[in-house]
Amino acid sequence: MNATPAPGPAGPESPSSGAPAAVPFRGRGPFLAKAPPFWLPMRHFVFAAASFWVFAAAFLWGNGRLLGFDFDARWVLGLTHTLTLGWVAMTLFGAMCQLAPVLWETSLASERAAAAAWWLLAAGAAAFVGALWSGSEGYWLGASLAASGVTLYLYVLAKTMLAAAKLDWTGKHLALGLVYLVALAGFGVALAYDRQRAILFRDPEGALIAHVHLALVGWVSLSIMGVSYRLVSMFALSHLSAKTPGRLALALANIGLLGLTLDAGFLGRRLMPVWASLLTLAYVAYAFQLRRIFSERNRRIDPALAFTLLALAGGAAWAALGVGLAFGWVADSTEARLAYVSCALLGWATPFILGQIHKIVPFLVWLHVYSPRSWTPPVVVPKIQDLTSERVAWLELAALAGAMVLTPAGFLTESQALLRAGAILLLSCATLYGANTALTLSHVIRRDARWTPPSA
Ligand code: HEM
Repeated sequence: MNATPAPGPAGPESPSSGAPAAVPFRGRGPFLAKAPPFWLPMRHFVFAAASFWVFAAAFLWGNGRLLGFDFDARWVLGLTHTLTLGWVAMTLFGAMCQLAPVLWETSLASERAAAAAWWLLAAGAAAFVGALWSGSEGYWLGASLAASGVTLYLYVLAKTMLAAAKLDWTGKHLALGLVYLVALAGFGVALAYDRQRAILFRDPEGALIAHVHLALVGWVSLSIMGVSYRLVSMFALSHLSAKTPGRLALALANIGLLGLTLDAGFLGRRLMPVWASLLTLAYVAYAFQLRRIFSERNRRIDPALAFTLLALAGGAAWAALGVGLAFGWVADSTEARLAYVSCALLGWATPFILGQIHKIVPFLVWLHVYSPRSWTPPVVVPKIQDLTSERVAWLELAALAGAMVLTPAGFLTESQALLRAGAILLLSCATLYGANTALTLSHVIRRDARWTPPSA
């Protein structure tokens, strides 16, 4: 670890060098002035890390309620939304709040409304899951509260995008993702309300399939694809040249998803193999686009890039299982569906999120604590990677790689032992990630004496 003397207008020379009086060095990044306050994105990432841990602990603790006669639908539904609302949704909203000034060169439309949306989503998710796990029938109230939080995020992000001078390619993916988010939340609340009443949906299972794919493909995957083109090429120091495969991926994903939603939600699920094939072709085209970014990279594979590669492998397993289920090559059982959802959430979304957050959180802390907003050289500052442990990140990756294989295998083979082994590895990953995040955030609470605090 080597401390880099920060360059000031006077260069690293010490004031005693007789050089002209050094003037305070100020950050010049144009987005800094428009960036949201540190705690707005950070409260999302902290809540998400805690939700990931709660999910992993509950997944291990309630491991006996996932298979066969012991299958507990309420427990599983609560587990699913701890991960999808608490970990995935919170991270995506936090990242969008942070990235808005970078992507669209405009400030967030309303930081206060974004903070209020955080409270509604956090309280709604907790109430929804809490009611499901405590046996209360009123869980649709929590679901509605969560949906109201989602609606407020939509207002803030849509208003921010409309104020953008230009919506770039990443922005277009995120805008489409938000449209699907409206639909999934609507389906979600209607499903929560209709679960005991069965008055809204002629085919509740079809409506559930529509909800799940609007969420996993429409919102989560389109957002991941859009953000990856910007962040992965940035982290890989690689230039995104031709976008043809990416454009094809976007078109096929939308056609496949719209077809699937209409067919599953309203037309009796007649053409599922067609939609599954289109979505898989979309994924292949996307993987081609990412392959280009990786092949042109100018940086070694660090944990962040390795997590992205792991996500690509997990996404391929998810697509393959989807085709197997749609064509009937895999029996359509509850366990096979849980394997399918775990491939999407643990094999595709989670490694991708860990890969990006491992860069974003240390960068935000560096910016907030150590960035040269008001320094007078000479100073000693850390590199961004000094704020996190790369060794721990590699251990997280190894644990997650094991969990993302053992969990769907445990469901598909109905093996309690494999499921438990997967759950132990997943809890190890979530605990290591929590510790690594705490290590980075410790710089906010207690300054590290190795580095020059900005006010010095
Ligand atoms: C406001 C937001 C949401 C609400 C109100 C909601 C509500 C629901 C409800 C009520 C069900 C059960 C339906 C049934 O079995 O009849 C369900 C299932 C499911 N939802 Fe959501 N959901 C929301 C957001 C999400 C998101 C963002 C994701 C994924 C990223 C997601 C993924 C799933 C999955 C995978 C299932 C099937 C799991 C299972 O049956 O246990 N949901 N959702």
